Amino acid sequence: MKKVAVYTSGGDAPGMNACIRAVVRGAIYHGAEIFGIRYGYSGMIKGDIKPLNSYSVSNIIQKGGTILKSARSDDFKTKEGRKKAFNCLQEHEIEGLICIGGDGSFTGAKIFHEEYGVAIVGAPGTIDNDIYGTDFTIGFDTAVNTAIQAIDKIRDTADSHDRIFFIEVMGRDSGYIAIRSGICGGAEMVLVPETATSIEDVIETLKAGRSRSKTSSIIVVAEGDEIGGAIEIAARAQESLVDVDIRVATLGHIQRGGAPSAKDRILASRMGLSAIEGLLNGRKDVMAGVMKDELVYTPFEHAITIKKSLSPDLLRMVDIFNS
Ligand code: F6P
Repeated sequence: MKKVAVYTSGGDAPGMNACIRAVVRGAIYHGAEIFGIRYGYSGMIKGDIKPLNSYSVSNIIQKGGTILKSARSDDFKTKEGRKKAFNCLQEHEIEGLICIGGDGSFTGAKIFHEEYGVAIVGAPGTIDNDIYGTDFTIGFDTAVNTAIQAIDKIRDTADSHDRIFFIEVMGRDSGYIAIRSGICGGAEMVLVPETATSIEDVIETLKAGRSRSKTSSIIVVAEGDEIGGAIEIAARAQESLVDVDIRVATLGHIQRGGAPSAKDRILASRMGLSAIEGLLNGRKDVMAGVMKDELVYTPFEHAITIKKSLSPDLLRMVDIFNS
């Protein structure tokens, strides 16, 4: 395989640039020509493809975002869109792809491989950490650190004003960011989609805290919690806790930006190199990951369908520390 391309797709994540750099430098080291596809699958369909060299990825390991840009493509979900994408790859004589993205991107990669036999190896880049086949995804550690910084600041003002804060963090259907940032921020409760949340329990716990003279509380809510987001849950709590000042903070996209942490830079570099070396050695339809500090490859099929569960000991810890 002499000509390969790399693209980033779906929500960006800090560390994607470090991963692109590893893919590009790894490809060059092994004598392959490497191209960058801008805007993920949208760019593949439009032929937004350009050659990359070692200097193209200089001075990016420390930067958030993705130099290749990213997008969520509806066109690639259609047969017609995928045909156009395949034709563009053929025009450039590209034989293999590295996809840096999350489950939506890998689903697209799997279908593309099934239809056209294109060899694709993935590197998991998403702040959500919801991909099976790797203990952590690129960007998760940085996102948790960003959330912790925000929670610490909110705690200062919550304490000054004797307020209860519901803080919503990202994660789509996963509670990974919530549980880890909640523990690190000393949250009184963490509401995640992986466990059933009862609004009555939330209210009782807050009331019990008030009766123990607890003046302020932080409740971290995963955006995908089944009983609703932070705004909705806070409104329901306020109905029962009329004499308490309740506020909501939605951390939103700040969790997606910023310089990647040391952990993310290392993880992204390892997975990027492993992905390109896997591709050049004939692997396809798999994702490169790191499990128990070992480089592993997991079929896309498993990466996107197997649910990664939250560690029960983390969930238990929140309850014990706040009992
Ligand atoms: O998958 C990453 C993520 O940030 C999720 O946590 C969040 O639900 C979603 O993307 C937001 O997507 P968008 O940036 O398209 O609004």
